[in-house]
Amino acid sequence: MCSAWESEIAVDIGILGTGRVAQALAPHWLLGGHRVCFGSRDPDTRRAALESSLIQGLGAEAAAGLSWRPVDRCVEGSEIVVVAVPWDAALASLEQLRDGRRRIVIDCINPLRPDLKGKVIDDATSTLRVLQDHFTASDFVKAFNSASSAVMADSHFDQVPSMPICGDNEVARQRVAELVAAAGFEPIDCGDSLAATWLEAVTLLTIRMAIQNRWKGDCAVKWERRESR
Ligand SMILES: NC(=O)c1ccc[n+]([C@@H]2O[C@H](COP(=O)([O-])OP(=O)(O)OC[C@H]3O[C@@H](n4cnc5c(N)ncnc54)[C@H](OP(=O)(O)O)[C@@H]3O)[C@@H](O)[C@H]2O)c1
Repeated sequence: MCSAWESEIAVDIGILGTGRVAQALAPHWLLGGHRVCFGSRDPDTRRAALESSLIQGLGAEAAAGLSWRPVDRCVEGSEIVVVAVPWDAALASLEQLRDGRRRIVIDCINPLRPDLKGKVIDDATSTLRVLQDHFTASDFVKAFNSASSAVMADSHFDQVPSMPICGDNEVARQRVAELVAAAGFEPIDCGDSLAATWLEAVTLLTIRMAIQNRWKGDCAVKWERRESR
C-alpha cells in the first residue's frame, strides 16, 4: 500500500479523454483543490475549444490547477488516472502504466453494445477485470459508470444519489470514495472487483429505464437504508 494515498492532500488527477464525462468531473476536483490534467490525442486543439467554458466560475486558483497533455504524459504525471475514453480506446490509452509506477486507475467505462441490448465483452467479466489483468502494477477501481455525464456535472436531486464503487485494493477504494463524494455522490463500497460485472449490468438496467420512461440523462440510482426492524 502507498501511504500517500491515505492522506487527504491534493493529488494530481489525470483524466484520459476530453468528452462528456471528463468535462463533467474535472470542475468538482479542481474546486476541491486537486490538480487535474486532461490527457488528449490532441491537447492543444481541445484546450482551445474547451478551456474557457470549463474554467468559467471556478475562480483563478482552481482554474490554475488545470492542464492539458498528450495521453501518455498525462498518465505519467498522475497519481490517480480516470479512463474516460470509449472501451475500444482504453487499453491503448493506458499503455504508459507499463512504467511500473503504482497508480490508482478509475474505470468509469460501460462496454455497451450500440443497440444497448448487452455488453460487447463477456457478461461474466468486466472492463475492470480486463484492464487490471493487463496493467498489474496499478490498483483499479470501478466508479462513475452508473450515472450519466449530466448527473456527474450536476448531481442535485431531492436526495444525494448513490455511486457504487468496487476494486480489489481497499485503500484505493477509500481514495476513490473521497473523489466520488467530492463530485456530489454518496459512495457505496461494493468490495472487490467481482462486483464490477454487476455494476455494468446496473447501468444497462438504468439506461433501459431511462429510455422506456423518457428520463433522458436526468436519473440516478439511490440505494436507501433504514434501521433494522
Ligand atoms: N456519457 C455518459 O453519460 C457516461 C456515463 C458513464 C460512463 N460513461 C463512460 O465513460 C467513457 C467516456 O464517455 P463519454 O460520454 O465522455 O465519451 P465522449 O464524450 O465520446 O468522449 C470520449 C473521449 O475519449 C477520447 N478518445 C480517445 N480515443 C478515442 C476514440 N478512439 N474514439 C473516441 N474518443 C476517443 C476523446 O478525447 P480526445 O479527442 O481529447 O482524445 C473523447 O473526447 C466511456 O467509456 C463511457 O462508457 C459515459
